[in-house]
Order: sequence, then C-alpha cells, then structure tokens
Amino acid sequence: HTRLLVKEEHVSTTSAPQQQIKPLTIIYGSQTGNAEGVAEEAAEIAKNHGLSPLVIDMDDADLTQLSQAERLLVVTSTYGEGEMPDNAQALWDDISSANAPRFDNTYYSVLALGDTNYDDFCLAGIQWDERLEALGATRIAERVDCDVAFESPAQEWIAETLPTIAQKGSNGHSDVVPSAAPAATKKAKSKFNRDNPFEAELISTYILNKPGSGKETCHYEFSLLDTNESYDAGDAINLIPSNRPDIVEELISILGARKEQHEQYDGHTLALQTIFSEHLEIRIPSKEFITEVAARSGNAEFIGKLEEGPQSLNDFLWGLDCVDLLTKYAPTAFTASDFIRLAKPLAPRAYSISSSIKKHHNQVHLTIASVRYTQDNRTHNGVCSTFLADICKPGDKVKCYFAPNKHFSVPEDASAPIIMVGPGTGIAPFRGFLEERAATQATGDNWLFFGDRQKACDFLYQEELEAMQQSGILTRLDLAFSRDQTQKIYVQDKMQEQGAELFSWLERGAYFYVCGDAFRMAKDVDKALHDVVAEHGGLDAEQAQAYVASLKKQKRYVRDVY
Ligand code: 2AM
Repeated sequence: HTRLLVKEEHVSTTSAPQQQIKPLTIIYGSQTGNAEGVAEEAAEIAKNHGLSPLVIDMDDADLTQLSQAERLLVVTSTYGEGEMPDNAQALWDDISSANAPRFDNTYYSVLALGDTNYDDFCLAGIQWDERLEALGATRIAERVDCDVAFESPAQEWIAETLPTIAQKGSNGHSDVVPSAAPAATKKAKSKFNRDNPFEAELISTYILNKPGSGKETCHYEFSLLDTNESYDAGDAINLIPSNRPDIVEELISILGARKEQHEQYDGHTLALQTIFSEHLEIRIPSKEFITEVAARSGNAEFIGKLEEGPQSLNDFLWGLDCVDLLTKYAPTAFTASDFIRLAKPLAPRAYSISSSIKKHHNQVHLTIASVRYTQDNRTHNGVCSTFLADICKPGDKVKCYFAPNKHFSVPEDASAPIIMVGPGTGIAPFRGFLEERAATQATGDNWLFFGDRQKACDFLYQEELEAMQQSGILTRLDLAFSRDQTQKIYVQDKMQEQGAELFSWLERGAYFYVCGDAFRMAKDVDKALHDVVAEHGGLDAEQAQAYVASLKKQKRYVRDVY
C-alpha cells in the first residue's frame, strides 16, 4: 500500500520562511467526516501556536513513523457498537498488537467523538488514549469525550491542547514548514452549521411503499433556491426538527405544568412550550434522566437493571420514551425544571441524500422511513421522521445544514465500476450515485444490490430503477425480497450467489459501497464480502482479510452505515 511518509510531508519548499517551527501530527479516525473536520480545524489553529501541523487519515499513517512523532493529536469517532471507524481499523490493529513500537518520546492528547445514546460511548477514543499511554506516550491534556453536539467541547479541547503541546518536545529543523494546506480540489466549508442553519422549502413528498406494506418510507424533495448551497452525491444533510405538538402536550401534562409557564433554559427565560418544542430531546430519555427516575421511583427492579449495566437496562426500557418512564415509575416526582435540567439538547438528524444536484437542479431529495410503533397502547412517533411525515407540509421551511461525506462519493475515475449494496432506506445515496453517473455520462459499470420486505409493495423507486436498467446506466440489479418466501433472502445472499462475478468486478477495480443498518446488515455484508473474496480469489481467511483491508485503504470499500 502507499503509505504517506510523515517525515517527507514536513520537508521544506524553497520559499519557506526560515524559522523554528514544531511539527505536530494529527491523525483522525472518521466515519462520516466529523472527526476529519475537527482534525482540520485543529490544524488551522495550530499554526497560530508556532506548530507545523500535518493531518493524516489513519489509513495513510505508518505506525513506526507515527511512534517517532514528538507531538501527536488523535481525533476519532466511534461507531456502531463501540467500533473503530473503517479508516482506523488497520492502524488500530497494528498499534494494539504485541509488537507495536514504543511511543516514549511522544506527547499526545485524544479527542473522542460519540453518541451517549449508544453503549460503549466513545470507546474508540478511550482505547486509543489508553493504548498510547501503555506504549509510553505522555498525555498532555485529558481526553475529551464529545456527545452528538461535539462542536463546542471539541473547540475547548483544541483551545486547551494546542498551547500545551506547543511547549513540549524539541523544535523542528528550521526548514520545516506547515504542510497541511488543504487540497486545491476541496470544497469551501459551508458557513452553515448547527448554530447557524439555513432553511430549505419542502416542495413535495410521497410514500414510496404501496398499500399493503408494513412500512412507511417517504420520499421528500426540498428546494435549495436562494440558499447558494450545494452538495455532492453521497453527502448527508442534517435536519433540525421540532418536537411534535402531541408529545409536547403529553409531557407538559404529566409534569403538571402549563405550556405558557416560563422557565430558564440555557441562560434565557422561555415559555415551556418553546423549550420543549425547539430545544430539548423530550422523547428519548437521557442517561441522567433515567438514573434520576430510577432513584426517585425507588423501584427495586429498575434500580437493579441500572446496576447490571447498559445491556440489561436497554432490554428493560426497550421502546419507552420519557412520558412512559414518568407514567410508569414516577408520575408525580418531577417538575418541569427538573426535566429541563436532565434532558439533552435536541440533536439534528443526519440523512443520506438520495439525489444528484446535477439531475435535480437546486434540489435535495431524501428517503426516510417513518419510525412509528405502538407499545403499552401508546403510539410512538420518531422525532424527525414523523415531524416530516405528519407535521411538515409542502411550502414549509425546514432548518438544515449539509454534512459532507468526502469518501462516500462516486469514483473520480468515471470508467471505474461500482458495486452498491443498499437495502431499505440504504438505497438513498445510490439513487444519487446513479443519477450522478447518468448526468456526467460516466462510462463505468454500475451494480446495485437492493432488498426490502415484499416486492409487490416495498420495491422502492422501482420505476426509476427499471428505467435506469433500460437506459443502460444500471448495469446489474440484484434484488432480495426477504418476506416473499418462507426462507429469508437478504442482499448478502445475493452477493454470495453472484460471488464469481462480484469478485471479477473487484479485480477490475470496482468500488464497493454499503449503506444502511450498521448493526446487522453491514456486518453480514462484510462477512459475505470476505467469503466471496476467499472463495473466488482462492485465498485463505487471512489473505481474504488483507484483500478487503487493502480495498478499505484505497477507499474502494466505503460504508455509510448507522
Ligand atoms: P426482514 O425485515 O424481513 O428481516 C430492509 O429493511 C430489508 O433488510 C428488509 O428486507 C429486512 O428483512 C432486511 N434485513 C434484516 N436484517 C438483515 C440483515 N442482517 N442483513 C441484510 N438484510 C437484512
């Protein structure tokens, strides 16, 4: 593999200022680009501290050279069940092996990105932090573990870490210059973010499933007119929902409060109605809220589950929202201000974009499954999916900002073949990819594996996909409808069935993309890919693993899974 040489990157150019600058290496493990973005931000600011920053994708880092870095910052997210991001796995395997080099001369700090709604919060960052310490590196600032709203804790970590690390270690050679200049092709960073979103108008919407389906998957079309914003196929968009009026009302009622009543929130005095609709996560209970409900309820079983750990607690509380918890365990124990203190800020929801702007000018399309279920005779509605499905009407504006996903994009080489695996709403980015490749007249072959429950009512975008087959842009379409026969058939079964062909596509340079469920589907597809490579490449398990790892390093095996 081509490994980036850390030292070479620090080599001077003739026009370099002759001054003492200290090299700083920043490595990132990133699944969706957030950690990468923070790493780049840290690099920008590092220059103000006399540091010469170099930002490296973990997949491009060489462990031996890394161990010689005097100043090292690690920014990594965690995804799925406490897993390393795809681009961090190989380096993590190297550094966690018994013969990893020592880091005795390294000063370091770790920034971990995560989501407290998952068990094993920030586990990848924790593991890097502990491993570097065990290998002799000196921690110069405590690790910071960020929740979904990572922006401000990340800023604080950067502000604390850079001046400290700049004081450590020796100076670099006088000919060392900053080398982390962004690539010329990189898109300018949008001025819009969580605190400063733009508004997109909902133009139209329809349900993709046909009557008889047990699912509701919706297609949404938003206008970007007047926003000056754009995106690449494969990017995601963050939507900022409001909580539905019905759940706001239920919560206010069980707290014995009134919607006009004013409360303190984040330094402001606001009507409870506003706080609950716009500012707080009121459906999914926070860890703090759960702990407090258990304590105040005095319920022995609940307290026992809490002590047993996240797995048993999750099973015990499966599907319950804040209103359920209060109703069941502590109907009179909480005031509105207690709730406000314990709840988390309402997080934006990221969705993979299902269009290409080259086909749909000034538009962004989304493909979203509505989350709805009934439990204990109470209807539960997912916050953002049903805000869109039930509350938003064409003509309404929704607050949003883009979340670029650099590596999850069509290959630069228009002639490279691509294989896409996207069951259910996992089809979203691939509709975008196919539109993009048609619009740009890319010559590479395109192969889609799609699956859902029943062909008759869950074949999302059937007409469009069939038209793309007709026109030749969709070279192959393999379908796995799981509930049309007694035996379940999934996309990974179709991959196995077409193993020889799939392997031959990989051998001629195909990119392999997966989008959708991280917990089961993406794992099973990963296993199927290994099996196919082993069987049709005549490789043993270890060789197959190396083959797949190499695809990942080349960014030819990329996943958008959640
Ligand atoms: P099922 O619900 O019938 O089990 C989109 O949700 C499709 O993904 C459905 O057909 C669903 O099948 C299927 N699916 C469920 N688990 C899966 C897994 N582990 N791997 C691949 N597809 C899966």
